[in-house]
Formats: sequence, C-alpha cells, structure tokens
Amino acid sequence: MRQGCTGSVGTVTHFWHPFADMASVLAGGALTLVRGEGVHVWDERDRRYLDATASLWYCNVGWGRSEIGEAVAAQMATLPVYSAFGDITNRPAEALADFVAEIAPVPDSKVFFTSGGSDSIDTATKMVRRYWQLRGAPERTILIRREKAYHGMHTAGTSLAGIPANAIGHGDLIEGVIEVPWDDAEALRAAIEAAGADRVAAFFCEPVIGAGGVFIAPDGYLQAARAACLDSGVLFVADEVITGFGLCGDWFASSRFDLEPDILTCAKGITSGYLPLGAVVAAPWIAEPFWAPGAGVWRHGYTYSGHASVAAAALANLAILEREDLRGRALELENELASAMAPLADHALVGEVRAGTGVLAAVQLGADAMEEDPGLPARVGAACREAGVLVRPLVGGAIAVSPPLVIDGAGLEELAEGFRAGLDACA
Ligand SMILES: Cc1ncc(COP(=O)(O)O)c(C=O)c1O
Repeated sequence: MRQGCTGSVGTVTHFWHPFADMASVLAGGALTLVRGEGVHVWDERDRRYLDATASLWYCNVGWGRSEIGEAVAAQMATLPVYSAFGDITNRPAEALADFVAEIAPVPDSKVFFTSGGSDSIDTATKMVRRYWQLRGAPERTILIRREKAYHGMHTAGTSLAGIPANAIGHGDLIEGVIEVPWDDAEALRAAIEAAGADRVAAFFCEPVIGAGGVFIAPDGYLQAARAACLDSGVLFVADEVITGFGLCGDWFASSRFDLEPDILTCAKGITSGYLPLGAVVAAPWIAEPFWAPGAGVWRHGYTYSGHASVAAAALANLAILEREDLRGRALELENELASAMAPLADHALVGEVRAGTGVLAAVQLGADAMEEDPGLPARVGAACREAGVLVRPLVGGAIAVSPPLVIDGAGLEELAEGFRAGLDACA
C-alpha cells in the first residue's frame, strides 16, 4: 500500500531525493514528470516544460528516442547482463569500448566501464596512484583539484570538491589533495613545484567547469595547464562527465582543445542518461603497465562494469549523435545559446551571463540582489519553472542551462523568454 502526502505540485512518497532539502520538498510538494519528447517534458497534470538543462547535463539526444529503448529491449530479451569480472565479456560492452576508443582524444586508449561519473572519478584516482606504483614511483600520490571543481560525490569526488559546501564536514576522505585557482596555469605550475613534482600523481580538470557555476577557462588556460603537467610528469585527468559526447562541439572537449589527456572520465552523454553508465578512458601509456604480462589482477571494478543492456543503450545513443551530426550542431548552438542568453545580462537581478564554449551557460545573479535575498536563486528557479522552463540554480547564485543538442531556434527563444519571465517575477 502506497502512502504519501500531497504537496502543491505532486505527491511526496518515501523517495529520499538526491541533493534535496527534504523538508522543503515535503512542504512544497514534488514535481512529478511523466514523459518527454524532444526538448520538452510533461508533468502529471500534463503541463509542458522546456527542459533547458537536458535533465542534469546529460540528455544530449533529447527525449523520446524509442530506438534506444528498442536496443535495450532486444539485449534484455537475450542476455540482459552478466558480470565482466576476469575473462568474461559480452559483445555490446566490447563494441562500445571499441567505439569510445575510436573517438577518444588519444588513439588506442583503453576503456574501463563504471556506473556513472562519480564511479569514474573514484576509478581514476585509484588508477593514477596504482599507475605510479606500477611505474616504480609510489611516492607520487598527491592529487590536485581546482577551485570550483565538481567531480561527483563519491569519496574521491568529495575530496576533490572545489565547492566547499560539497566537502564540508567530511574531513580528508582522501589524503594528499591540494587545491589551485581555477583559472591560473602558472599557479598550478607553482603548486606542483611547491609540493615536489615527484610527489604529485595527477591534476583533475573539467574543460568547462559545470556544477561550480559554468566557468569557461580563460583563453590558453587548458593548454598551459596541460603543459605544466607534461613538464612535471604529472598526469592530466580531463573530467569530461559533462563536456563529453558532443556538448563542446566534438566528441570530447579534450579533442577540440588538443589536450591529449592521460586519463579521461566520462558518463552522462554516453547514454544521454537513458541508462546509467560511466567510463574511464586511459591513454595507451597509462594502460600499458596494468595490461603488461606479470602485472596481475588490478583489484578494482564494479558489479555493473560492462553491463550489456546499458552498453546497448549507449551504442544506440552514440549512433544517433553520429547520424544527426549533433556535434556539428553543438558548435553552432554554442553561439546561438550565447546570443539567446546575452540580453538577460541587462536584467536588474543579473550580474553577468557566462556562455560561449559548449552548449552550456549560466546567468549569474548580481551580488547586491543576492545579498538582499540569499534565497533568490531558488526563487528564480521556481519562477522559471512556473513560466514553463526548467533551469538549475547552482552554488553562488549561478543559474545554469544546458539544453539538449536537438534544441532549435524556437526552443532557444522559449528558453530565453521563460528565463526572463522567471527573473521578472522575482524582481
Ligand atoms: C564534472 C563532473 N564529474 C563527475 C560528476 C559525477 O557524476 P555522477 O553524478 O554521474 O556520479 C559530475 C556530475 O554532474 C560532473 O559534472
């Protein structure tokens, strides 16, 4: 028997929502979504919303792609899943690994599957430390994160959080993590030197900072940070959980910006979120000591690493991205989105609009408005929803948008108009 309490927008059940103030959810009610098509989703009352955030930065191909479901159903009907520990494998996982290796920024990369972005980050932190042990440099353990960084909420990701609110109260879950400014490659170089280059394992870097507020690195920063790592032997880990699979106009932002990462973490867009999946893509020189004769078992992996039905979903999703050239579309869209959002900078509540690299943007609420009402981001988020557009308030008063890559001009207009209506309602 289902019990629940009815809120203003839907029914609250025993579902403990992630990243939620459950008291507010109980008081205000939950928004129950029931279907999606293209760039729109509908709630139980058949109210339509423009999905301006592709859910949580992941629905790159948009909603209603029945061919993904059909591919999953076909796999489910034969062999839904089987553990891939040790020497067991399945064809969808192999085909997906080959596809990802084919499009990876570094040729001949190896692909380790996980169940999502946080898993990928946990895996990458263990991979870099293990790598240095195998290479005879076990003292290389220090991990470097950037201010504002978001790398998921597992143990490693919490320690790598450059958003203080996401780490407070958890202590040093992983020891030996240092933070550098998000936008200064010389400071990275200096931090590596200060720590002792031969003690630093890896630098973690989102090509565009997402959950930290949508911050686009200054021109040349990514390449200079990459060079600082190369010069000191520190491994460069590109966290492409958001930026992968088309969002930045190429399969990966690392390819667009010539980063040749030692390790690349990804998730989200690999299935457009239709099923949960992540991956860690290791350049051949990283995989080499793990795969070498005599290396033995790397004692790491997840129950669902290489899940056959999830891999089938990913293959169908990537086929759509390729067939419809959504990477090419994303390159056009990053400018179209920036142009659609730019006029919002004139609004009295807005400090600035950040956009222009990749199909993601943020409206930064002004400092004065935020000081006057710290609850403003949540109010703006709710007012935009009321105006029919789902946006996402982030830390620090940034409100993010990152629509599916299938959005057209009319959709962008709807997005900007709904956003303005939301801001007006709060002014
Ligand atoms: C850059 C980045 N890394 C890691 C993660 C964690 O991914 P997940 O929530 O799938 O565990 C996210 C999630 O938004 C992310 O944006």
